[in-house]
Amino acid sequence: MPVSPSRRVAFDVLRKVARGGNASDLLRIHSANLSSRDAGLASELVFGVLRYQAQLDFLIQYYSGRDTGGLDLEVLIALRLGMYQMRHLERIPRHAAVAESVDLVKRAHKRSAAGFVNAVLRKVDDVAVMWPSWEIALSCPAWLLENWKRMFGREGAARVARAFLRKPETYVWVPASRRGELRKYDVEATEVPGCYRVISGNADGLQRQDIGSQTIVPLLELEPGQQLLDLCAAPGNKTAQAVERGARAIAVDSSFDRLAAMNVPGAERVAADGSRPLPLCTEFERILVDAPCSGTGTLGRNPEIKWRLQPSDLERHHARQVALLENALDRLAPGGQLVYSTCSLEYEENEQVVEEALSRRPPEFVLADQERRIPGVDPGDGFYAAVIVRLRASYPQERIHDAED
Ligand SMILES: C[S@@+](CC[C@H](N)C(=O)[O-])C[C@H]1O[C@@H](n2cnc3c(N)ncnc32)[C@H](O)[C@@H]1O
Repeated sequence: MPVSPSRRVAFDVLRKVARGGNASDLLRIHSANLSSRDAGLASELVFGVLRYQAQLDFLIQYYSGRDTGGLDLEVLIALRLGMYQMRHLERIPRHAAVAESVDLVKRAHKRSAAGFVNAVLRKVDDVAVMWPSWEIALSCPAWLLENWKRMFGREGAARVARAFLRKPETYVWVPASRRGELRKYDVEATEVPGCYRVISGNADGLQRQDIGSQTIVPLLELEPGQQLLDLCAAPGNKTAQAVERGARAIAVDSSFDRLAAMNVPGAERVAADGSRPLPLCTEFERILVDAPCSGTGTLGRNPEIKWRLQPSDLERHHARQVALLENALDRLAPGGQLVYSTCSLEYEENEQVVEEALSRRPPEFVLADQERRIPGVDPGDGFYAAVIVRLRASYPQERIHDAED
């Protein structure tokens, strides 16, 4: 029996994700020729398997009596796909889930495992399971849960991890000039100006941007005509918001390709490493450092990150983030305002970066505000933002005395 297109695509994407690929990008490429119904099922299978991976592996061990570590990747993926459909998707007939997983291992030239996959999946029932640990119950690595527990408490950490098991909402950013077109779409306004939640349909033609991401630019308090240095700009979502507010933006990014693909009329583009002295000889009233990060605020959207990320990655991100922020602070004009932001939940990438960079600056650099969006508490992805202002040079002390006399 040929494997259905949606399961074939899901299997191929999951195999590539296991080798380091990005699930969303791969799905977009592999689903290009599928009907929208098949593409929808492929997406549901890929993200479902990645979100619930720890639970699915526990169940595979439970029903097979074998450690999943000893299974070939293709066999493991076929089992995860079958298990996910049987335990989570009521509309899929059980026999179809079993038969298709068996066919998937045959298609992957693992014929000898077909009997094993068939035998394991036929045992699967609907009985509720007592998960042996909170990392399996929440399908999240223990070290990440511990990190979140330190910041949000045990129940707060569990709430974050549970939020990442749900399919995220889709949000779009709609500039004021295009709001007249909104009647063509099934969307509703949110509390963030310009941000709309997609109720149904795919909102093709509108720019997708998470609601959390749309809260960052307003923190710059831009005034029309102000010059903005956007230090990590590509793909330009936030640059576009800033330009709409009348900023004259200089968009810097170290990735030439990402910068070249950026389409924000009115923004000047500069390919440069933002952690090193910049080829720009001016100070800026406004600076945005939307730093590259681990992305742990986006695990609902990018669930593969949670299985890849290692604690040592946070140290690497931290070092780069401090270098970017320090370089940016060197370019902040007196009276200017800088926003440092990440879509990470981790202390090492957020508060610790800001504390370290500010500890090496004179006292005129002041942390004015910090904001955090927490999945499960706030809608959308997790975000962190710090607002740093550089006070104008202090008024000479002797003049103050003169004035008092
Ligand atoms: C979180 S993304 C920025 C998203 C963007 N601000 C937006 O809203 O569309 C981080 C960006 O930083 C860039 N980047 C990484 N290291 C950099 C560096 N040393 N200097 C400048 N840009 C860097 C990456 O290429 C990536 O485009």
